[in-house]
Amino acid sequence: MELKNKDLISINDVSPEEINLILDTAVSMKEISTREIKKVPTLRGKTIVNLFYEASTRTRTSFEIAGKRLSADVINISASSSSVVKGETLEDTGRNLQAMNPDQIIVRHSCAGAPKILAEMLPASIVNAGDGAHEHPTQALLDAFTIREKKGVLEGLKVLIVGDITHSRVVRSNILLLLKMGVEVTVSGPRTMVPIFIEDLGVSYVPDINDAVKDVDVIMMLRIQLERQGKTLFPTLREYSRFFGLNRDVLKNAKDDVLVMHPGPVNRGVEIAPDVLSAPYTVILDQVENGVAVRMALMYLLTAKQ
Ligand code: CP
Repeated sequence: MELKNKDLISINDVSPEEINLILDTAVSMKEISTREIKKVPTLRGKTIVNLFYEASTRTRTSFEIAGKRLSADVINISASSSSVVKGETLEDTGRNLQAMNPDQIIVRHSCAGAPKILAEMLPASIVNAGDGAHEHPTQALLDAFTIREKKGVLEGLKVLIVGDITHSRVVRSNILLLLKMGVEVTVSGPRTMVPIFIEDLGVSYVPDINDAVKDVDVIMMLRIQLERQGKTLFPTLREYSRFFGLNRDVLKNAKDDVLVMHPGPVNRGVEIAPDVLSAPYTVILDQVENGVAVRMALMYLLTAKQ
């Protein structure tokens, strides 16, 4: 089996079978990162461009390490140090990069739809590394990998996602992926941060976090998207933390074996109390580690089509 598209723009575009293929391939890729020599020749001769128009620590580094572990040539471009600052358009940047024959371009952009524009225009494989408030498909894949690794399965699990549902590209990709894989999804957060018609997506909304955490297998906390809200949707960070932060008191209502996840970067002490961040059931750094394996799998499966 192989992936049907040359690009990964949205979780909408991949089937459950393709998701399983990516996750299964990532299991073998993860083993490579445990070796003393963490490198295989799989993508020798392939060129991958990391084109980041927005800040990133995890995603950009993870794609770079993933490409290098597979022996690809990886080139990093930040908008702030490129000709974007001289006014070059996304389209022109894309066409100029394509002229140098890359096999894959990884794109992060503040505008929803930017990676799709490049995917439709260029022969290179395009991977969405986060576009505005639209989607972050590789985050959802690495989250699913982590849940499956820790719980053994995805189907039949219950996942709670808490926070700024409206402005999160992570939640959009996660809801699409988890529902496709037979997971029951609940969201919680201030009503001002949850779309009115959220239930139409097939998820439940439980306003009180103390009720929402009961009986779930995974609690996924989201970052407060201060840069995307445009206005204040809650009175103060202290009140947000009091009503929607995850702390040990809230966790008393949850199952003993619940997993706590967060895509990062964490607003420490806002979404999650510091002692919960360092607790054994918190798998945030496992998510980061698994991101490399999942991106290696995706690079391999997509560039094999080139
Ligand atoms: N999770 C995530 O996308 O983190 P970065 O913004 O650091 O890439």
